[in-house]
Amino acid sequence: MKRDNLTFFRGSSNWWYRKKKKKTQATILILLFCFAAFFCAFSSWIDLSIFSGVFFPKQKLEAKEKPRAQEFPPKCINGNDTQTCQRNYPSTHNPNNPGSPSNATCPAYFRWIHEDLRPWRESGITQEMVDKARRTAHFRVVILKGKVYVEKYRQSIESRDKFSLWGILQLMRWYPGRLPDLDLMFDCDDKPVIPSKDFQGPNSAPPPLFRYCADEHSLDIVFPDWSFWGWAEINIKPWKDVLNDIKEGNKRTKWKDRVPYAYWKGNPHVAQTRQDLLKCNVSKENDWNSRLYIQDWIEESKQGYKKSNIEDQCTHRHKIYIEGWAWSVSEKYILACNSMTLYVKPKFYDFFIRAMVPLQHYWPIRDDSKCTSLKFAVEWGNNHTDKAQAIGEAASNFIQEDLNMNYVYDYMFHLLNEYAKLLRFKPTIPQGAVELCPEIMACAVDGTWRRFMEESMVKFPSNSIPCNLPAPFDPITLRDFQEKKANSTRLVEIWENEYWQNINKEQ
Ligand SMILES: *[C@@H]1O[C@H](CO)[C@@H](O)[C@H](O)[C@H]1NC(C)=O
Ligand SMILES: *[C@@H]1O[C@H](CO)[C@@H](O)[C@H](O)[C@H]1NC(C)=O
Ligand SMILES: *[C@@H]1O[C@H](CO)[C@@H](O)[C@H](O)[C@H]1NC(C)=O
Ligand SMILES: *[C@@H]1O[C@H](CO)[C@@H](O)[C@H](O)[C@H]1NC(C)=O
Ligand SMILES: *[C@@H]1O[C@H](CO)[C@@H](O)[C@H](O)[C@H]1NC(C)=O
Repeated sequence: MKRDNLTFFRGSSNWWYRKKKKKTQATILILLFCFAAFFCAFSSWIDLSIFSGVFFPKQKLEAKEKPRAQEFPPKCINGNDTQTCQRNYPSTHNPNNPGSPSNATCPAYFRWIHEDLRPWRESGITQEMVDKARRTAHFRVVILKGKVYVEKYRQSIESRDKFSLWGILQLMRWYPGRLPDLDLMFDCDDKPVIPSKDFQGPNSAPPPLFRYCADEHSLDIVFPDWSFWGWAEINIKPWKDVLNDIKEGNKRTKWKDRVPYAYWKGNPHVAQTRQDLLKCNVSKENDWNSRLYIQDWIEESKQGYKKSNIEDQCTHRHKIYIEGWAWSVSEKYILACNSMTLYVKPKFYDFFIRAMVPLQHYWPIRDDSKCTSLKFAVEWGNNHTDKAQAIGEAASNFIQEDLNMNYVYDYMFHLLNEYAKLLRFKPTIPQGAVELCPEIMACAVDGTWRRFMEESMVKFPSNSIPCNLPAPFDPITLRDFQEKKANSTRLVEIWENEYWQNINKEQ
């Protein structure tokens, strides 16, 4: 059985949550899993470069290319853990090709940067507001004169904090010297924690807090999640590589030759809505056109993740996306497959999904009547293969083109840049903060962690300047856009109702 779906991701990261309920069982599971994960990581690594002492292979520069900024492969010295930060990476960004390819407007989802920062547009952001966000933060990042300082407050789930920080360090290498001084709080947990109802009015001073997702009732600022640089605990490679693999994988089976059902595989134990989804599995009594499976991560890790290749998962015409404890990291992997995504009505959003549109990029599925909704969606897709295929392709193109790593860095750049413009104080290095650099981070870990850091490391500065940040929405355009999305979803619900009314009439 191919693993076809990554929805269970929330599952593994939610062991933390389940632990509250079933502490002992979860602890044993974690131990088992860590052992298995570590063993697999180590054994697959041994023939690479573990004995060489130099962990960052030098990449050849194309002979024809104008000599651009050199590479700076940091070196970890075996048995020497007194690493220091190298100082020979370029500290300014002087692309020799400034106009191309990014001298263009950024993708549409960048417009929500303005929306996310809107609560502070009038008031600005004071040191007190930032300090107030510390309550739940895992770490604080201060950027000063191009250097990154981190003050760690508490342990995050798995290595979320490490890989998020790693991502920020890579951004600094991609655009050296371009990031302004700033001071921000980052929370690596799932659910948003800054309710907008508590912060209304001009003097409400909401705390600015960065995290991976938010919802319409919260002011949390969304930032790309750790998996863009790899999810070591479950062996999901950095996004740049996964994206290439999926591109290849998509070519393997033509849409029309794929299994004509809806597919989901995941961990149902993280959320009631997933338990509910499982009721739609095919059974003796009913066929809701859905084929649903439970992912067993522990078993998978013992098998060396042989069935975990993301590029092998695009085998069905329809793939279900459903949230877990909050938004699910699986989203981008599912949308990248050029199957049609059946998107169960979400509660949360991440940084890119708000620009995606039902019936253009995915098919909306009700959350209060999943089975009937799925049955109809799959039948519709199999009746209108060209349209369903076009929806699958539109999503896959969106992910491949607008969500490639260059744009992820551009998004981070613009978000941080706009955020820094709002600061009403001069950031200083907090007591207890340490300077962070790739040498220190990567040399402190081994196995899959280090391999993913090497693979996702930015080796030389970008060859161009960031894309141009689009202007904020005017309120009417934004309202129209939201309304258009709601209308498409409603249209599908009307079709569904008609379909089921007809069936019930016949009976
Ligand atoms: C350890 O690394 C530091 C910095 O790279 C270097 O100065 C020092 O000499 C090294 N020590 C040993 C014992 O190799
Ligand atoms: C970007 O393109 C515009 C025209 O679209 C041009 O006027 C501008 O000079 C370009 N900027 C850079 C930095 O090349
Ligand atoms: C769903 O049905 C299929 C086919 O009968 C079965 O193989 C699978 O285990 C079922 N999934 C769950 C979660 O019960
Ligand atoms: C699919 O086509 C069949 C045969 O034309 C029709 O009976 C059915 O209602 C269609 N279903 C949908 C959802 O379009
Ligand atoms: C949404 O649907 C309503 C009612 O059907 C219609 O009046 C409105 O113009 C539609 N909005 C958009 C943006 O298409």
